[in-house]
Amino acid sequence: MRVVVIGSGAREHAIAWRLRRCASVERVYSCPGSAGMEDVAERWTLDPDDADTLAEKARSVAADLVVIGPEAPLVNGLADRLRRQGLTVLGPSAQAARIEGSKAWAMELCHQYGIPAPRALRVPDGKEAVRIAAGCDLPVVLKADGLASGKGVVVARTRAEAVEAAEILGRRGPVVLEECLEGREVSAFALSDGTRVQFYGLARDHKRLFRGDQGPMTGGMGAFTPVPDVSPELVRTIRQDILEAAVTAMADRGCPFTGFLFAGLMLTADGPQVLEFNCRLGDPEAQVLLPQIDGDIALQWWAAAQGEREAGDVSQRSGAAVGVVLASAGYPAAPRTGERIEGLDAAGRVAHVPDVLAFHAATDRRDAGWCTTGGRVLTVVGCGATQEAARRAAYRAADAVQFAGVQRRDDIAVSRSEGEVDA
Ligand code: GLY
Repeated sequence: MRVVVIGSGAREHAIAWRLRRCASVERVYSCPGSAGMEDVAERWTLDPDDADTLAEKARSVAADLVVIGPEAPLVNGLADRLRRQGLTVLGPSAQAARIEGSKAWAMELCHQYGIPAPRALRVPDGKEAVRIAAGCDLPVVLKADGLASGKGVVVARTRAEAVEAAEILGRRGPVVLEECLEGREVSAFALSDGTRVQFYGLARDHKRLFRGDQGPMTGGMGAFTPVPDVSPELVRTIRQDILEAAVTAMADRGCPFTGFLFAGLMLTADGPQVLEFNCRLGDPEAQVLLPQIDGDIALQWWAAAQGEREAGDVSQRSGAAVGVVLASAGYPAAPRTGERIEGLDAAGRVAHVPDVLAFHAATDRRDAGWCTTGGRVLTVVGCGATQEAARRAAYRAADAVQFAGVQRRDDIAVSRSEGEVDA
């Protein structure tokens, strides 16, 4: 198979890397890709939003499958445009991607089909959002209804925070106010062909910048899989009552979901509840999930894209994977770029540390080495027989890669008893 991966982040590097390991895959192409992905994928420096040019290029190499990594092109209908050009695409239609593109749409779907989720109210007008925030129960969660690149959620614990968040989010469009749930968060993933669901496992992200889930929200500072505090019974509930229920609901609504469905969940005392749905794999969750999946995933993904996926579980390797994100100084507000990265070899792998993975997000080649080009720079991943072994490997890799001002958390996959503080 010849597979095209759309996107350029560490998630897309992990996707391309994992596809390249499939016996069925002869070649992987990335668009627009990155210098760091060149070890596994030939790079097409095209604008992926230009569906006509992209489709022509894909046809010219007889591509069998196009995998779309990020949410924005999915919400903007890239999967539909490429399908209209006759390509086989893994990723939901724009109609189905509304599950991420509108938080209110997703909450309404949950409420209509009995999928456990917090109470929520969509307020179209910013002034009205401020008025409601000035009198609602606290704490309250305020969300931008549309895509916000990870910057659209505020957990307001005081009246002043609620009003300020409503003012800021309301300037950009409709605001969703939600009941604030307490518990631990987990990310759950499924591959769907539109009707059937293949469970891809759970991972836990670390969303805030500093140790103990303190500081500003980020795109994610690290992740691990599996998640030991989720029992097999709870996993069954998540699969059936949330992932399968959502796929069934989408089909019933006339917008079947093809691709990766990602449920961001809160594990409350009353069971798991949906905080959000996403229409893609998570970042950094994909960087730890994909190394743990066995089998020829390219064939599975191709079958799902054709609407022919068999239901069942994906085959997962035993052991664990831990990923640590290395971010630039100033991230997330104003990342400082252009720093020289030490500790990577010419191919972009972690030099002198065997058996670890480095997935590039914002790097480029410079002076026969590597430099930083954005906020989240790399995810380094360690795998091991236990979570602790995987964590040690990940931090050996993180210690080996250095650049001026590097920010990273030192408590990724540290158990609660070892000092993790819940958000
Ligand atoms: N890690 C959270 C996300 O990908 O949205």
